[in-house]
Amino acid sequence: MRDERQVFEEIDDSQARVWGFHTARLRHRLAENELFTDESLAGLIETIDPRHMDITTMGEDVSTWSHCDRAGLSGAEVLEAVRRGRLWINMMAMENVDPRFADLLGRMYSELEEAVPGFRTFKRKLCLLISSPNAQVFYHFDRPGQGLWQVRGRKRIWIYPPTEPFLPPVNVENVMRSLDLEDLPFEPWYDDYAQVYDLEPGDMLHWALNGPHRVTNYDMLNVSLTTEHWTDQVRRSYAMNYGNGILRRDLHWRPRSRSLDGPGFWAKVALTGAWRATGLHSRTSYKRVLTHQVDPDAPLGRRALAEKDQVVVSI
Ligand SMILES: [Fe+2]
Repeated sequence: MRDERQVFEEIDDSQARVWGFHTARLRHRLAENELFTDESLAGLIETIDPRHMDITTMGEDVSTWSHCDRAGLSGAEVLEAVRRGRLWINMMAMENVDPRFADLLGRMYSELEEAVPGFRTFKRKLCLLISSPNAQVFYHFDRPGQGLWQVRGRKRIWIYPPTEPFLPPVNVENVMRSLDLEDLPFEPWYDDYAQVYDLEPGDMLHWALNGPHRVTNYDMLNVSLTTEHWTDQVRRSYAMNYGNGILRRDLHWRPRSRSLDGPGFWAKVALTGAWRATGLHSRTSYKRVLTHQVDPDAPLGRRALAEKDQVVVSI
């Protein structure tokens, strides 16, 4: 008999075999879960530590994001603003916020590790995304292994090959070393090389490591989850890119190998360790400046704050 708390529908042999190498599309059962009803989401919005919740909005220039203050609105009012406006709520590290999400994250990965031979993960994270009709996420890549889980609404995702020219090594190196953001240069013709998926409630996608992607919501409120994980291979790839970045940018030596094994690889691991031990790597502390506040009655679900009213949140 099936456990009622089981996260995935059946994971078949072909899905297990492409996992990690190509895009795998799986089916999950979270769309029925009471964690994601309007009432539950409104409660989370009201009680979450603001450091775990980033409410963003797109500017008129669609490539820039601004941060928004909840401004004491109820969870229901914030959801109404998301429904009517152009907002994107990212509730981060939910496994540290609410034990129900910690339990869910554990189940997700225990089912995956059981189904996929050799798949062992650590440093897992779960984020909850609540986003407006037609909202977009621009072309970027993520450092660790990624999963995208569609719970409510529909969205389209374009996933591009994790190789040149779509993912230039120098960009990856700078992001791994926290010298740069995860945005990448984009050209419209890249779409000719993309895999395109329309995600419905119950769909889950996992793609090849660092695969660049962009997302557009269809014309309704979307509720999605993202998961992150590290594996031995993710850690090796991180060390290789970090080491290549030191060689290229600081030692002016063009790295020739992206191998994840052998003496060259282990020399990069040693170089990365030595470099980090010197304290030369950047140590940045982040602050979020809230330049807008959520407002369900404003045209885009938010309005700009005067400079004197802007709020700074340390994260
Ligand atoms: Fe992403």
